[in-house]
Amino acid sequence: MQGKRIVLGIGGGIAAYKTPALVRQLVAAGMDVIPVMTESANHFVTTTVLTTFSGHRVRNDLWDLEAERSMGHIELARWADTLLIAPATANLIARLANGLSNDLLTTLYLATTAPTVVAPAMNLEMWNHSATKRNIGVLETDGVSIIGPDYGEQACGETGPGRMLEIEDIVSHLLVTTDPIDTPMTGLRVLVTAGPTRESIDPVRYITNSSSGKQGYAIAEAARDAGAIVTLVSGPVALPPPKGVQQINIISAAEMKSAVLDIANDIDIMFGVAAVADYRPTHSEPHKIKKMYRNGSPMSIELVENDDILASVAALSDPPYLVGFAAETQSLVKNAVQKRERKCLDAIVVNDVSDHTIGFDSDENEVTLLHAHGETTFDKSPKAEIASKLVAAISELYTSNRT
Ligand SMILES: Cc1cc2nc3c(=O)[nH]c(=O)nc-3n(C[C@H](O)[C@H](O)[C@H](O)COP(=O)(O)O)c2cc1C
Repeated sequence: MQGKRIVLGIGGGIAAYKTPALVRQLVAAGMDVIPVMTESANHFVTTTVLTTFSGHRVRNDLWDLEAERSMGHIELARWADTLLIAPATANLIARLANGLSNDLLTTLYLATTAPTVVAPAMNLEMWNHSATKRNIGVLETDGVSIIGPDYGEQACGETGPGRMLEIEDIVSHLLVTTDPIDTPMTGLRVLVTAGPTRESIDPVRYITNSSSGKQGYAIAEAARDAGAIVTLVSGPVALPPPKGVQQINIISAAEMKSAVLDIANDIDIMFGVAAVADYRPTHSEPHKIKKMYRNGSPMSIELVENDDILASVAALSDPPYLVGFAAETQSLVKNAVQKRERKCLDAIVVNDVSDHTIGFDSDENEVTLLHAHGETTFDKSPKAEIASKLVAAISELYTSNRT
């Protein structure tokens, strides 16, 4: 499933300066956002920043001939799962209430069958005016959800009702009104680690492993699509960052541990998919080690054990629901059961990395999920499919664990 598709209508009020942050948070919450600006909104926020944060070309013109070759305004109206208008100016509210369609945004409002959510923002006298009150009443009768405004200090220096609802509250509103059946992880905070780590020998050499990061990235995307707010802590991989996921890039196991522990207290579910190096060189040389002519005699690198990241998270006073991954080459289930118990994990996913058609660097996987109440095997299929099934199974286990 794709993330919820939001057309974000932006009116020409001072609160429009907050919309880049709003777009960022909606995207981080797994939503796909296309901004549509009124002409006045262009005075308060740039299309450049909105394009950058949304990843979509901002639409601000009904007479955009390129888009209209395929009836772009109707396509956009059909594309939206929700039309969110924030900030909604007094003028925009009046136009919507009266069914005017004299620009792209008001035309979309009439053309879409998606639910419309309006976040008014204006000076308190404008908000208190009987015309605005009347127009808000009409919109409510027409089935529009009005969220806010907040009470507080306004840009004009006055204090009262009229401030746009805080961005976090707008995002929460969209999350709770997002179809809870289709999105089993709605509102949950999920941490995924992915990829290998690199343990430095000297500035140009390191110890690593063959993890491609594909399964971890697929799980981050599946959790995002299930409605979770996802943070991905990634080792060095050749994959594009998943959209709508907050990504923290690290190199070594120590950096991964520190990034994970920084946020683990605020996380509901953690998937430890990364292939974290068990050992690192005792000393990482500051300068490139010169080749020594040893006449064939061996050279050795002393290794020291890395901290176990999942075990460190499990040792927290209120750990998240912990899902570990085990790449095994023999006695798969027996080894995984032991690993789950040793590390105090809620669940473990094991795969056979001796089979080169699955696991490391391949596009497919076949895994067994083991937990306190049993085990399930997910037959060989693309990693994205395995990820969706695992996310669905884990969200069920998580829910039954909490109730
Ligand atoms: C600096 C400035 C700030 C404004 N802030 C607001 C505002 O917060 N809310 C509002 O309803 N109108 C505000 N206005 C007035 C709107 O910009 C004006 O009514 C405009 O026609 C709205 O167009 P739109 O609804 O198509 O975006 C502001 C105007 C200026 C010049």
